[in-house]
Amino acid sequence: MCGGPLHEFLKGLPKCEHHVHLEGCLTPKLVFELAARNSVKLPDPEQRPEYASPEALTERYQRFTSLDDFLSFYFVGMSVLREKSDYEDLAWEYFQHAHADGVHHAEVFFDPQEHVNRGVPYDTVVSGFTAGCRRAEREFGMTTRLILCFVKHLPVDNAQRVFNMALERGDFKSGVVHGIGCSSSEIGPPKDMFREIYATAHSMGIRRTAHAGEEGDPSYISTALDIYKSERIDHGVRLIDDPRLMARVAMDEILLTVCPVSNVKLCCFESIDQVPIRKFLDAGVKFSINSDDPAYFGGFILHNYCAVQDAFHLSIDEWRTIAGNSIRGSWIDDARKSELLQLVDDHVKKYQTTV
Ligand code: HPA
Ligand code: ZN
Repeated sequence: MCGGPLHEFLKGLPKCEHHVHLEGCLTPKLVFELAARNSVKLPDPEQRPEYASPEALTERYQRFTSLDDFLSFYFVGMSVLREKSDYEDLAWEYFQHAHADGVHHAEVFFDPQEHVNRGVPYDTVVSGFTAGCRRAEREFGMTTRLILCFVKHLPVDNAQRVFNMALERGDFKSGVVHGIGCSSSEIGPPKDMFREIYATAHSMGIRRTAHAGEEGDPSYISTALDIYKSERIDHGVRLIDDPRLMARVAMDEILLTVCPVSNVKLCCFESIDQVPIRKFLDAGVKFSINSDDPAYFGGFILHNYCAVQDAFHLSIDEWRTIAGNSIRGSWIDDARKSELLQLVDDHVKKYQTTV
């Protein structure tokens, strides 16, 4: 919770989330429970003492040293998922938190390669996550989108294999999967490794986003825009190191899906006030505020909104701009955008007449 007078306003502000990894919603408690239920062996605590208990793991999550350090826990965590109900429950767990935090529209990432490579059928993963999405739509009136995320630390033909599974199943045509993204280690793998996959997606009209400029320099962002024809950039905070590229991103209205708490937890910035929120607002760069991996970084989307408010003391008008841009940058039709924009206007008016 933020200490400022806008806390209730921020809690009720209608939100869109565009950058959350469903596997990043697996808490240490659930990792241990599912490992026991599914007979998955976690790392030996003799070698990795942080796996002695959920409490020890939670404590270790306070001290990530980099993106790759975090990823070494993230990929172990998701290895406990096996059954369709595991995937459905995990998604449902996320949507309940998101709903409580004022999210009306959520576009969520999942990493199928990691599951398929362990022998979980692609269908199990997608049908489980889809069931969670449908329940959120039914029970909360939310709109949801699944984004298939490729991982950069595995060979590209492994990504291609999973992309083919999604194509063969007709997931993009049916809308079960709405778009593609890519994440995991940024510095190391070739910047344009998914060039062919993104070209196919572009030619088929499949929506595209990409993690870029989280730890890597702005050339990762320009590669995502120029080679991948990415419509959004996930993180993108290193844009501040290239003013010309920043002007282009502002002009082309490319939405950045910024994750302030994640950036601090993974040592991209020392503190939230170093995250370029003010710089982006001043430069007219459009962005949304997101949670990334809430179970690893200590909070869901509202926690991120509050952290930004504590650091930057934004005005109601600035929050209206952020909420509006996140609606306009969502992968939803114009009617849904108008509906959500109206909700934001109503919320702002209601708040202004009560203070
Ligand atoms: N960056 C890269 N890979 C990830 C992230 C992230 O923020 N979250 C989950 N996988
Ligand atoms: Zn991410």
